Amino acid sequence: MNETTMIQQLPFSYEGIAGDIRKLGLILKDSFAAAGICFHGKISVLNVACGRADETGVLVQALAPAEVRFYMGIDLMGDAIQEASRRWKSTTCEIHFMEGNAAMLGRMKTLPEFDLIFLRHQNYWHEPMVWEGILDEAITALKPDGYLVCTSYFDLEHDLFVASMRERDVNSVLNVRNHQSRALPDAEGKSVDRWLGIWCKQKLGGLPRRA
Ligand SMILES: C[S@@+](CC[C@H](N)C(=O)[O-])C[C@H]1O[C@@H](n2cnc3c(N)ncnc32)[C@H](O)[C@@H]1O
Repeated sequence: MNETTMIQQLPFSYEGIAGDIRKLGLILKDSFAAAGICFHGKISVLNVACGRADETGVLVQALAPAEVRFYMGIDLMGDAIQEASRRWKSTTCEIHFMEGNAAMLGRMKTLPEFDLIFLRHQNYWHEPMVWEGILDEAITALKPDGYLVCTSYFDLEHDLFVASMRERDVNSVLNVRNHQSRALPDAEGKSVDRWLGIWCKQKLGGLPRRA
């Protein structure tokens, strides 16, 4: 049983978010199951470029039976970080929402290594060099048997992210198009959590080490 208690103290800011988040929770669970990934024990999670971190509740649920004991979200946008801090509380998990630069994670010497690093709607295409730095730091912060998961809004940005990951010392575990994702009416070709990718540091022949 997942004993992580994540309490949502504020409703979501916009109509439609709750539905998107529900779908994200489902695709996360399905993807972990499809990849044979099962998290156990007490784990730590880093949500990179988290914005408002609306997905905090479903992300933690998707990691059951593991108990998330340390959860950190980081983003440059102070307003979004403050909103996330007001929305999410826990009695069982240490939560930190930090306004900061994820490309500087390595300078935060007191951070634990992470079992899961999540990047929802990564933004690689927008500033590739910045995101190269973010990915360097994220992969360094990942435990040797941890997983990095991203979602993307559109095909090209996902391809760019995947190409960058291919150049790194990580292995692609799963790459799926989310056919339930909600199309964005004002942006052709974009949809919410359109793609989901999972990578790990360990050799694929060794998978699943956590099961
Ligand atoms: C497309 S938004 C996604 C936000 C959120 N994850 C979501 O799904 O709603 C990309 C986010 O990356 C953040 N970002 C860009 N560069 C960053 C950096 N160097 N460090 C931390 N966050 C960064 C932006 O502030 C923005 O919130």
